[in-house]
Amino acid sequence: MTILAQAKGKTALVTGASRGIGRALAKGLADAGFDVAITDLSSQAAELDVTKAEVEAAGRKAYLYTMDVSKKAEIEETVASLLKDAGGIDVLINNAGILKPSLLQDLDEASWDAHFDINAKGVLMMCQAVLPHMRAKRSGRVINIASIAGRQGVPTQGHYAATKATVITLTRVLAQEVGMDGVTVNAICPGIILTEMGKNNLGSEAAIRHWEEVAALKRLGAPEDIIGPVLFFASDLSAFVTGQALNVDGGIYYH
Ligand SMILES: NC(=O)c1ccc[n+]([C@@H]2O[C@H](COP(=O)([O-])OP(=O)(O)OC[C@H]3O[C@@H](n4cnc5c(N)ncnc54)[C@H](O)[C@@H]3O)[C@@H](O)[C@H]2O)c1
Repeated sequence: MTILAQAKGKTALVTGASRGIGRALAKGLADAGFDVAITDLSSQAAELDVTKAEVEAAGRKAYLYTMDVSKKAEIEETVASLLKDAGGIDVLINNAGILKPSLLQDLDEASWDAHFDINAKGVLMMCQAVLPHMRAKRSGRVINIASIAGRQGVPTQGHYAATKATVITLTRVLAQEVGMDGVTVNAICPGIILTEMGKNNLGSEAAIRHWEEVAALKRLGAPEDIIGPVLFFASDLSAFVTGQALNVDGGIYYH
């Protein structure tokens, strides 16, 4: 059965969908036949509208909500609204995230807290809000966007890497806790993807050239490079796969 046939009548929820990887995933899921709920901070409302138009241009329903993934009440309100509006949530993509580089020695407490609140606790709270619904209907797919940083950090990203290692661990444990109810939980670990976050992180053309050289495929990623792996985890192509974290990084090996 094609992904298109499997996606018919199903709804995927994407956090952080106003730009970058989140926007590409919303469009990719719509192209594959899913209706898509897109969420982001209220400050991103105008950019969210652009994503909504892209989903609708693919001929799918788009549901738009503004929400901060670090705020439990906002998550619960959004999930309740979507369940009412769409009648169900079949796929959850936890994509929202931040990266503000700093040496660990200089990192202030507020930045540590913000990274953990958004990148790690946000994933947990989204799962806590959506999983009861998926478990009750005995099917669902959770896909967490972690990072290769969660495998091994690099200088100035220690705090970010720690949040992404947490996401990989949450993925492994949640998979074991909900698998008996027909729900799979997997993670994707992107390498360097040329989004706003990716470009800010690299900072210079020289850094881009360096990482292109390190990558086996001799290029850095585009947001669209994450779509295929997400569709794999969102569909029955991965029916017997859970608790995994897949690197999608063009073959970056670093020590
Ligand atoms: N770009 C990369 O190189 C790269 C590599 C590995 C992993 N990732 C991960 O991929 C995901 C998407 O990153 P991106 O590169 O598209 O970044 P981006 O900065 O372009 O987009 C991140 C999105 O998350 C949203 N967001 C931030 N804080 C939020 C909050 N509190 N509540 C709701 N939404 C919030 C932003 O508004 C934005 O739309 C992130 O989790 C990131 O850590 C990115």
